[in-house]
Amino acid sequence: MSTHDHELSDLDPQSQVVAAGRPSKTDDAGVNPSINLNSTFVAPGATGYGRYGNETWSALEGAIEVLEGGKTLIFASGQAAISAVFSLLPRGAVIVSSKNGYTGTMVALRKLEESGAAEVRYVDVSNTQEVLAAIKGSLFLWLESPTNPGLEVADLPTLIEAAKSLNIGVGVDNTFATPLLQQPLKMGADIVIHSLTKYIAGHSDVILGSVSTNDSALFGRIQEVRKFSGAIPGPFEVWLALRGLRTLGVRMERAQKNALELATRLSLHPAVEKVRYPGLASDPHHKRAKSFMKGYGAVISFDVKGGPDAADKACASSRLITFATSLGGVESLWERRHRWSAESPTIPKNLIRLSVGIEDVEDLWRDIDQALNSSQR
Ligand SMILES: Cc1ncc(COP(=O)(O)O)c(C=O)c1O
Repeated sequence: MSTHDHELSDLDPQSQVVAAGRPSKTDDAGVNPSINLNSTFVAPGATGYGRYGNETWSALEGAIEVLEGGKTLIFASGQAAISAVFSLLPRGAVIVSSKNGYTGTMVALRKLEESGAAEVRYVDVSNTQEVLAAIKGSLFLWLESPTNPGLEVADLPTLIEAAKSLNIGVGVDNTFATPLLQQPLKMGADIVIHSLTKYIAGHSDVILGSVSTNDSALFGRIQEVRKFSGAIPGPFEVWLALRGLRTLGVRMERAQKNALELATRLSLHPAVEKVRYPGLASDPHHKRAKSFMKGYGAVISFDVKGGPDAADKACASSRLITFATSLGGVESLWERRHRWSAESPTIPKNLIRLSVGIEDVEDLWRDIDQALNSSQR
């Protein structure tokens, strides 16, 4: 974090995304950080070697620190960030986790179980009583909220407070919400991770992750993991992510507006059985999300009438929306999640996850409507 970043903590996040992570305002300084391509630095110095840090990483880390409210380390991917966190757990640790999380996280947890490294208790994170019962005697609570792709919302303030009162570590995957909608470290969580690949970078052109924490001992341990696992990001990708971050506020605002409109129309479409979007007043998670989130995100999941074949047909019939995995980019993407064998069995086979972008909402609706209609023929 630069001295300049320290002055930004009282600003609105819409301003922070624009102002954070820039060089100090000295004569003739660039307004953007440079892409530092050096693998090595003249000794003696604090950085020393490119696997330990550089000014481009520091700029993005400083910006996320301002937004999340915790010291940040960036990684080569969101998956690398998650693996770095799990690698800190002692052998035999009991972990409580959502049973409906991001597939990569689910695979990582299953591997820990298979190797005997950890015991995992899977819960419905939206069922607060179930989570509170499961955390007794555990070491670590892993929360993804809203979940990918079920869009269940965990009662983060209650769960974090309860876990911390029992001295249980709490990590939150904040990828779907971004720090603009919720800041779990400020609720007391120990760790927040992001797939920066998604909303923060925002243009489907980089893969990156981050880990943030307020605990300096934990920060040091995660830094060691990054140094010696070697899962480091390339400076150019980092620079692109920082450039993408500048428009996070306006992208989110527009994408969320589109998402609410599309979710409303989808819930009335005859080819749709069920819509999951916490922004809909009829959604079972709406009231909770409204109580502590500043928005509902821009991912919608919905079940298509006619089963997996009809859902596949819809995804193959769009013209504007791209049939592809991932989310959080300016362009709308959709896919039937069960085309991936690792998708959770509790996710319906006919569920499409739609990442709503910033296109014109009427163009998006025309595309969705024609694709859904052709899926029923
Ligand atoms: C919620 C969530 N967390 C983590 C990841 C992993 O991120 P990455 O693809 O950057 O490794 C993803 C990827 O889809 C995700 O959706």
